[in-house]
Amino acid sequence: MKPFDTFAPGERELASALDPGRIPAHIAIIMDGNGRWAKRRGLPRFAGHRAGANRVRSIVEDCSNLGVQALTLYAFSAENWKRPALEVDLLWRLLRIYLRSDLADLQRNNIRLTSIGRVDALPRHAYEELRATERATEHNTGMRLNLAINYSARNEIVDAVNSIIDEARIEGNLAGLAIDEEAIGRRLYTAGLPEPDLLIRTSGEMRVSNFLLWQIAYAELYVTETYWPDFDRSELLRAIREFQRRERRFGGLAETSGTGARADADEIEEIAVSSK
Ligand code: FPP
Repeated sequence: MKPFDTFAPGERELASALDPGRIPAHIAIIMDGNGRWAKRRGLPRFAGHRAGANRVRSIVEDCSNLGVQALTLYAFSAENWKRPALEVDLLWRLLRIYLRSDLADLQRNNIRLTSIGRVDALPRHAYEELRATERATEHNTGMRLNLAINYSARNEIVDAVNSIIDEARIEGNLAGLAIDEEAIGRRLYTAGLPEPDLLIRTSGEMRVSNFLLWQIAYAELYVTETYWPDFDRSELLRAIREFQRRERRFGGLAETSGTGARADADEIEEIAVSSK
């Protein structure tokens, strides 16, 4: 955890309340509310997306300083093509501008940029900029910034299963094929990344919107009413503080609940006797 250069009011207290040993290894964010942010200010939707892109910049840097290992941002879903063509086109331009203008910052912070989703469907200019940035940062060893672009979790799972079937067909092993969780996990777009510990959604909607459905099985969910362009460092620190207050059980029991084992055994004994 690197100290921040400057602090806005209240941030220092929030930062010092965090346990540096329990920073989530992987944070995933559904960045929602750009349009409403703009509407509230009487601005065109695009102004909201531009403010959203600026927010990406600051949150990426903050996560990197906090020691987050991977940050996955939902930048464009496979369903977002349903938006007006002009808005979609502006989003691709914005992505290209972001990638160009931020390459130096990514390098300075040793951040490796990768993407997940069917990115070959992007317009050429955005696709090439994305691939160029991935190549330029591929040897960086710091935080992994993973952009979900033209992404659908259902597509991802279907692609994983199809690749297992294809491999089995090539190996002539289709008849004996048995698929397990590990086989799917290894073929997801996120293979090699830890599963998200914390999933943040801005602007209040209680949905996961086809995002990382497999990987968020045990993620802690954090939803804030704040629109994405307003999701500043204080908001991030609050989300992590809330994460650190949660007790993660992964389907097991809390550490303190072991003391009830004797009472449970007595109860079972009693049921067994009374049902004879
Ligand atoms: C959701 O807001 C946001 C998006 C669909 C796009 C996210 C894009 C950015 C944050 C900017 C570009 C990204 C990068 C990585 C540079 P919305 O339009 O659905 O908001 P609304 O629900 O209020 O209408």
